[in-house]
Amino acid sequence: MKIGIEKIAFHVPNNYVEMTDLAQARQVDPNKFHIGLGQDQMAVLPYTQDIVTLGANAAQRIVSDTDKKQIAMVIVGTESAHDFSKSAAVSIHHLLGIQPYARTYEIKHACYGGTAALQQAHDFVACHPDKKVLVIAADIAKYGLATPGEPTQGCGAVAMLVSAEPKILRFADDSVYYAEDVYDFWRPAGHDYPLVDGHLSNEIYVESFVKVWEANKKLNQRTASDYAALTFHLPYTKMGRKAFAAIALEMSTADQDRLMAQYEHAITYSRKVGNLYTGSLYLGLCSLLDHGTLKAGDRIGLFSYGSGAVSEFFSLIVEPDFKRSLLIAENEALLAQRKKLTLTEYETLFKQKLPADGGTYEFDDTSSFAIKKISGDIRYYREA
Ligand code: COA
Repeated sequence: MKIGIEKIAFHVPNNYVEMTDLAQARQVDPNKFHIGLGQDQMAVLPYTQDIVTLGANAAQRIVSDTDKKQIAMVIVGTESAHDFSKSAAVSIHHLLGIQPYARTYEIKHACYGGTAALQQAHDFVACHPDKKVLVIAADIAKYGLATPGEPTQGCGAVAMLVSAEPKILRFADDSVYYAEDVYDFWRPAGHDYPLVDGHLSNEIYVESFVKVWEANKKLNQRTASDYAALTFHLPYTKMGRKAFAAIALEMSTADQDRLMAQYEHAITYSRKVGNLYTGSLYLGLCSLLDHGTLKAGDRIGLFSYGSGAVSEFFSLIVEPDFKRSLLIAENEALLAQRKKLTLTEYETLFKQKLPADGGTYEFDDTSSFAIKKISGDIRYYREA
């Protein structure tokens, strides 16, 4: 039985800041951000939107009325939860009108949560081939104004429908995993922003990639030649390049050229959006599918990394006619219609927070699924 991704879509908020403007405001050479980190624009979220609105908007793009009857599991991978108990998944399940007899929950391990959700979706469909699983990776990457992490912020969500009718990609059932207890990035309770040792996180990311790449070679008898493309978790788009550089010398020039050409296609969207934490790998996958030169049967290698640190390398195989199931024009339009913020507007939005005093407040954000009211610390969402 084939299991895989039947549909995939992303959502990003309507606002962004130009990295050149941010660099000038922080008195940094803009090339540090454009070349040194590989980022051109950064998505910014109003305080009246959150992982529920991001995830619901992404899922709304792919879930049909028939799917809503067949979805038997909804999983949200995130590290931006606003509640330690109630899951964002149940709010999204409600907003989308998915049939009620669905296993619905949230899952966490830093930027790895989306992959954990995707693999659980695979296992569920293996046991229940007539059912579908909605996987959502949604996050808000915020490090604080004028911090080293600031140019690696961003936000958004990717939604994937996993089923036994994989019209886009099918699983190759070849995952290898690695875990190491390390403090490179963590967010203890009570902290609005993560604590991060950025340079250590870069090191552990690359070391983890080499570990799972080597394990993959050994366990699955694969080499670089087997892959049409490699995609990486993208906290910023230079990061995947660093990982790739660590294995490049072992491959032929032809393999290097092919994989690097596809890498450029895989980072197009992330350059304009920034970090989606759990969704970053999958925004890269969307970009590769939309812009890459792929054909049926091609093998894509995916490297998922979650600080703390866990990682997984696995492959997905391209299905025939996959382009027919993509939303390429709509994806471009979503990015093109965004509003560019001034630095002052960005900083104002950045500092705004939902009231947390338990009172009743109403908001006039008319965006799809935006928070329309908070009362007694319950968020009420606008139905689309
Ligand atoms: N032109 C071109 N490149 C430039 C430059 C310029 N004018 N100035 C600096 N650079 C390059 C640096 O050489 C460096 O490249 P390298 O990483 O290939 O060596 C890159 O820009 C970043 O410079 P650096 O001085 O290391 O930046 P920083 O100390 O401000 O921090 C991070 C960078 C990524 C560590 C920081 O943004 C961060 O902590 N981010 C959050 C954590 C994260 O994203 N981790 C990733 C793994 S999960």
